[in-house]
Amino acid sequence: MTRSHNAKPPTFGALVSEDTNRHCCSVVRIQPPIDTPSRTHSPLRDTFGFFGNFLRNPTSVGAVVPSTRYLSRALVGRLEDLRPGELVVEYGPGTGPATSVIRERLPKHAHYLGIELEGRFHEHLQRRFPTLHFHHGSAADLPQILEQRGLPRPARIVSGLPFASLPTAAQDGIMDGIVWALEGTDGDFRTFQYVHAYGMRAARRFRNRMLERFEHFERIGPVVRNVPPAFVLRYRGVR
Ligand SMILES: C[S@@+](CC[C@H](N)C(=O)[O-])C[C@H]1O[C@@H](n2cnc3c(N)ncnc32)[C@H](O)[C@@H]1O
Repeated sequence: MTRSHNAKPPTFGALVSEDTNRHCCSVVRIQPPIDTPSRTHSPLRDTFGFFGNFLRNPTSVGAVVPSTRYLSRALVGRLEDLRPGELVVEYGPGTGPATSVIRERLPKHAHYLGIELEGRFHEHLQRRFPTLHFHHGSAADLPQILEQRGLPRPARIVSGLPFASLPTAAQDGIMDGIVWALEGTDGDFRTFQYVHAYGMRAARRFRNRMLERFEHFERIGPVVRNVPPAFVLRYRGVR
């Protein structure tokens, strides 16, 4: 894998500063307690916590449920081939359904960083996953965040961001950061789009822009055991 760590990180923050608070999600779904990594963690509380965030700031949070375990597994994919010191970055972990899968699959010698915009989610994640690292801020600032923390460019980016509902400038700014991070590597970017919104203009625009910038695209699913059902999208090979 070739990686250039000397390239100066570009600044994408300004592109998304106005509207990185918009989020997607779906309807309330109470998940079964499949994953209980700590005695204090409760999926039911996660769901209501998510909902509470929505009530406090509906325009910012947008909608309300954590992804199911099924979607989270498909989203994260395989991690066992990560090499020593390689990094997985998660965008928008929320209450942590995909984080939980990443923690289970992450090889001991690999690293993880979650980047979460909402303060309440960030605090929750730190409590729920005390052995993992989380940055409170925007995914748009990835280059600066990695530089500050002395981390390498990621080998994988797993995203829970609601790209299709983000404003165009925010979408493009975050995309620039993904391309910067994965350029010249065999790393990949994975995200999801809800089936009902898959044909919407903003969703198509996101995929078209990504196809312009990545050579390989794979669609997985739909994962029907999620509310609502969703496709996982995987991109690799920056053009
Ligand atoms: C649709 S929710 C997904 C949460 C979780 N990944 C899941 O699947 O249940 C979107 C998440 O992205 C976060 N978010 C939105 N914009 C962000 C940004 N620019 N940087 C980091 N996180 C962001 C939200 O706070 C929220 O936690």
